[in-house]
Amino acid sequence: MRSKIVAGNWKMNKNAEETQALLAALAAKLPDTQAEVMVAPTFVNLAGAVSELQASRIEVIAQNMHFAESGAYTGEISADMLMNIGIDTVIIGHSERRAYFGETDGILAQKVKAALDKNMRVMFCFGEELEDRKSGEHFNVVHSQLKNALFDLDASAWNKIILAYEPVWAIGTGETASPEQAQEMHACIRKTIADQYDTAVANNLSILYGGSVKPGNAVDIFSKPDVDGGLIGGASLVADDFIAIINGIA
Ligand code: 13P
Repeated sequence: MRSKIVAGNWKMNKNAEETQALLAALAAKLPDTQAEVMVAPTFVNLAGAVSELQASRIEVIAQNMHFAESGAYTGEISADMLMNIGIDTVIIGHSERRAYFGETDGILAQKVKAALDKNMRVMFCFGEELEDRKSGEHFNVVHSQLKNALFDLDASAWNKIILAYEPVWAIGTGETASPEQAQEMHACIRKTIADQYDTAVANNLSILYGGSVKPGNAVDIFSKPDVDGGLIGGASLVADDFIAIINGIA
């Protein structure tokens, strides 16, 4: 189902007390909005976050998971473990996982399949590097990232997929894609999905933008017709900033 979504990816930030404090502030200040609001604290704080947000409509989601059911994978977390503590949505394919932890399209395809097999929702991240954009390859790069990880899925699986376009050059850099650049890419992504599947699948899909979204630029980016919300890094760590961004989508 296509919906407006604002999600905070906290990455490796906030200890247990800080997590609790930020969640309490967000829950208290959450505006009345149609948008889905999600936060992704680090693994060790997920269960605490679920419990803290029991009475809130903010959803707790995970930043990553392993594709195996269980077994000898030291340091890893399975879909079942996430679901067991009340997590139904998982981020897969973040550029930091690709760049620092060697996650290839093939690994990501396995993770997506494993999450969907458990009926989880997947927020799939992808996006080009600066060199790709400079050389005009950005549409091709994005197409191949989608194709390699997602195009084996049946059309019916797509109601569990959220896409998050995050150009690597805009992540944590303070440099944002312009609203026009975001719209251009999002429209291209939607057309790619329509061509591969059909317009019903494409039009039902939420496509989020991520990369230096701040209170000052959120409204302009979110106003574009193919931008269904945002995946927010740094600004989601500050309650007032994240709330201001959520207000930008109302
Ligand atoms: P920033 O908002 O800090 O650029 O991070 C974006 C991001 O990577 C969200 O997943």
